[in-house]
This record gives sequence, structure tokens and C-alpha cells, in this order.
Amino acid sequence: MTLVLGIESSCDDTAAAVIRRRADGSCEILSNVVWSEVEAHRPYGGVVPEIAARAHVERIDLMIAQAIEKSGHTYQDLNAIAATGGPGLIGGVMVGLTAGKAAALAHGLPLIPVNHLEGHALSVRMTEHAPFPYLLLLISGGHTQLIWVEGLGSYRRLGTTIDDAAGEAFDKTAKLLGLGQPGGPMVEKAAAGGRADRFDFPAPLARREGCDFSLSGLKTAVRLAAEAIPEPTAADIADLAASFQAALANHLAARTERAIASVETAAGPSPRLVVAGGVAANSAIRARLTDLTQSRGWSLIVPPSKYCTDNGAMIAWAGAERFAAGLAPATGEAMAFAPRARWPLAEPPQGREHGGGKKGPKA
Ligand code: KG4
Ligand code: ZN
Repeated sequence: MTLVLGIESSCDDTAAAVIRRRADGSCEILSNVVWSEVEAHRPYGGVVPEIAARAHVERIDLMIAQAIEKSGHTYQDLNAIAATGGPGLIGGVMVGLTAGKAAALAHGLPLIPVNHLEGHALSVRMTEHAPFPYLLLLISGGHTQLIWVEGLGSYRRLGTTIDDAAGEAFDKTAKLLGLGQPGGPMVEKAAAGGRADRFDFPAPLARREGCDFSLSGLKTAVRLAAEAIPEPTAADIADLAASFQAALANHLAARTERAIASVETAAGPSPRLVVAGGVAANSAIRARLTDLTQSRGWSLIVPPSKYCTDNGAMIAWAGAERFAAGLAPATGEAMAFAPRARWPLAEPPQGREHGGGKKGPKA
């Protein structure tokens, strides 16, 4: 059994958790606390790195103390401490990683710097039956990627966004439609009463090979359509939101279908698509992916929302999987680990690198 404290601070959530990984690979989440900074950033319509870093400094100790206390354990019971080492807003990553190093040194525990994307990639295994391999669609505020998860530490990136991330597209569209933040849930709510077939927004990259995504054109199309209506009514906004959401869901499904085709043989007799990231909460997208997977004979696994969005449990879990597999770094190496703003989980096949996502990545 492995008992691990996880610390997450790479974007606008200050989070900590204690999880237990049993010898059979199952997981027990003993505590999982998150302090969201949404309110601090709301006036600015996006995450402000400096405000985020300061907020992490103020709350990280409290979150860690609460996670330990709620778990019913003490530091003496822990086997390791895992902290996000990147990618993310560098100020925030520094805060969490330094807190992890300090606690590890003070209590004589191993420290495991965790790639935030690996946290997302493996989080499904905490709550669902998801043996390797599986196809992961990660759709969050800063990342939109298709990753073939072959095993622990073995990831192949099949596609990524060449411009905006899916959550970013939702947030920007919400802003231009005057719907408020966080954009995803606001757009989804507005779309519920709208007609998805009123506006025919373009299908991005329809003729482009591969599994990359492009979402900025969609947002521009929404802006042009909105500007063409002199005084948009609530019904117009609902139709714009619904048409945008449907176009985005179709694009995600179209690129995922290509990825499915490319790994079909390797996926074995019970192929699985796992969806993670905050945008996985969107029911129109889930419905579209349900249709897709059913038509291809794949199963669709979407973990509970609180483990899809940023959280400490997924960092603790990735650390525990590494610890149990003997992949925890030596103390000197862990203590020398420098926080990373960029840290690709899996390089693309030809070493191709796209930008994409917000400046100051939010995974
Ligand atoms: O994974 P997450 O909590 O944070 C990171 O980006 O790491 O994802 C947040 C993103 C935001 O852009 C938010 O607007 C989006 O997820 N989101 C949604 C929904 N709920 C959250 N997007 C679409 N529909 C939703 N229901
Ligand atoms: Zn994330």
C-alpha cells in the first residue's frame, strides 16, 4: 500500500489531497481539497499569473494541512509526496513544488515531481476500471490533446490544438456573447434553450490529415455572426451558443474519430476512449462522443467532474503509480528538479511542436 500527499498549483486552483494506492492497483481518495481562485480573476476575464502566484502562496499551507487532517493520517504514515512540477504558470508551479520539497525534507519523505498532464492522463484510473492502453481526449482550459496512453510513462501524442484550447474557446465565446465566466458552463446553459442548426459554423481542418484541432476560427465565426445581428435578443444569443457548442463538439468528435482509426489495432478487443479536463463536463460534447464511440464499438469513460478538473488527488495518484512502479526519482534529483512552464507529456511522432492554448499554459 502506498499513501501519497499530492499538491497542485499550476493554474488557478490551490489543491491538495491524500490518496492510498492498494497493492492491487485500486485507489482510495482519503481527502481532496481545492481552493478555487475564480473570484480573484473574475474582474480580469482570465487568469492573471501574478495574482495566481500570490494566491497560491497564501493558501498552499492551509490546503496541505487540511488534506492531511481530513485523511485521518499524519506525515509519519505517508510514503511519498507528489507535487506538480509543470507545465503551468511558473509562479504557481514554484509555490506548490517548493512546498512539496520543504515538506519532504522536513519529514524525510521522497518527493515526486509530477507532470500535470500525466496527472490528467492517469486520473481516470482512480475511480474507473481503465486498464492500459486507452485513448485520452484531454479537453481543458489550456490543453486540447489526443494522447495514446500505452502504459505508465508511455504516451504518444496523436493530436493537439494549433491555436486555442477547447476551454479557452468556450471562455472567449462566453465573453463575446456577454455570458460571464467561467465560460464553459455559461455557454452550455445559454445553449440549452437555443437552436443548434441556426448558424452553420465551419468545420475546422475538415480536409487536413491527422488529428490536430483548430478552434480560433470557430470563435471568430461566432463573433461575425453576432455582429451581423443589430440588437441580439436572448433567443439569438441562445442560438449562437448552441450552434457554437454543436460545431465544437462535431470538431472534437471528427478528430477523435481519426485518432480512433489510427490506434484501432493497438487498442485490442475492448477499446476505450477516456475524456478528461474541465470541458468533459459539457453534456453536448459527451453526447456527441457517446454517439461516436457507440458507432465504433468503443466504450467511453468520463470520470466524475471533480477529478476531470484540476485537483490534488490526480497528482497524488500519478505520484503513487510512479512510486509503486519504482519510478520515483532519487532524493538529489527530486530536490534539484526545477519548475517547468513547458513540459510536453508526449512528443509528436516527427518531433513537430505546436503552440496552442493560453499563454501561461493551463492544463
Ligand atoms: O480542467 P479545468 O478545470 O482547468 C484547466 O484548464 O486546467 O478546465 C477549465 C475549463 C474552462 O475553460 C471552463 O470554461 C471549461 O473547462 N468548462 C466547460 C464546462 N465546464 C468547465 N466547458 C464547456 N462546458 C462545460 N460545462
Ligand atoms: Zn489541468
